[in-house]
Amino acid sequence: MAVNPLDWMLQVVGDLIYSWINYAFVIGTDLAGEVVEVGTAVTRFSVGDRVLGHAVGTDKSRNNPAEGAFQEYTVVLARMAAPIPGTMPYEDAAVLPLGLSTAACGLFQKDQLALQHPSAAPNPTGETLLVWGGSTSVGGNTIQLAVAAGYEVITTASPRNFDYIKKLGASRVFDYNGETVVEDVIGAFKGKTLAGALAVGKGSAEACSDVVHACDGSEFVSTASPSVSFDKLPRRRGLSLRLPLLVLRLVSSSVSSQVRFRMRNIRTKFIFGSSLMDNEVGKVIYEDFLPQALADGRYLAAPEPHVVGKGLEHVQAGLDAQKRGVSGQKVVVSL
Ligand SMILES: NC(=O)c1ccc[n+]([C@@H]2O[C@H](COP(=O)([O-])OP(=O)(O)OC[C@H]3O[C@@H](n4cnc5c(N)ncnc54)[C@H](OP(=O)(O)O)[C@@H]3O)[C@@H](O)[C@H]2O)c1
Repeated sequence: MAVNPLDWMLQVVGDLIYSWINYAFVIGTDLAGEVVEVGTAVTRFSVGDRVLGHAVGTDKSRNNPAEGAFQEYTVVLARMAAPIPGTMPYEDAAVLPLGLSTAACGLFQKDQLALQHPSAAPNPTGETLLVWGGSTSVGGNTIQLAVAAGYEVITTASPRNFDYIKKLGASRVFDYNGETVVEDVIGAFKGKTLAGALAVGKGSAEACSDVVHACDGSEFVSTASPSVSFDKLPRRRGLSLRLPLLVLRLVSSSVSSQVRFRMRNIRTKFIFGSSLMDNEVGKVIYEDFLPQALADGRYLAAPEPHVVGKGLEHVQAGLDAQKRGVSGQKVVVSL
């Protein structure tokens, strides 16, 4: 099982962002393991199959602790699972689900960027996608999926991750901490047609808006990250003004960001990384594309796993490690 920012966010501000959850609950979205039982209507899987899965228990429409990943046995929707190659360790496969789903929602849903779907032999579109935050889990999956769908990708990351990003298929990568990064990215798009932008990381939506405004092509920014970060909030809240102040900053920065987008006539939409379970994109990814792409080595299980321990007792250490911050890695707990 792998850890995502959402997991520790649920501990810190879950009552605000996922207010429907009925506690006690089991959280966790990313898993890989062996199938031990299949539903009567399931034809794609058999007992003993090795799979990865995106567990959606915290989703409002599910609200079901049996569908949380951080336990020995998890109920997973067949349409949110995919077979993995026999040689792929579960620790590698587990890094993919939520990052992959979120990237796919942003790139392919009709209410998001609505790009051409990925395939084994993509038709080159001649268009270039901007991915802000390419070394995040979401960003890495976005790069790989976009390239597999026939798009060139220009992205941002810290220099220590440039080689990793290139391996995923991006053609150019810029340091998002550089003082001239927005101008540099705009320069890189000269003569190219923008396919749109997918924004990951604090400040990414604003940066993407600046680039999209200055370039030719699609004027749509698909946004994965909230405009403020919750990582400085303690797990046990106590009496503190930190949370109300953060909520105030979240509201004011969201409003000013929306105004900026509207004034520039740029469309933007926040991604819900589990929404593909209810539309055609889920099947495109988990059934049609991923199994063969993993088997052929065309899709990498990235970022690399950083295993923090073996056993459920290490899950909290995993949440804490992810909250402290990772770089080009995914926190994984093995069982
Ligand atoms: N909407 C959804 O459904 C959904 C689903 C999943 C995740 N998310 C959100 O997406 C974001 C990324 O999640 P993740 O799990 O993919 O992240 P992650 O792998 O934990 O992200 C770590 C990476 O973030 C990069 N980073 C840090 N600050 C950045 C910034 N300001 N701009 C660009 N990159 C930055 C770092 O890059 P360097 O080390 O190269 O500096 C680091 O490699 C989070 O905000 C998360 O909440 C949203």
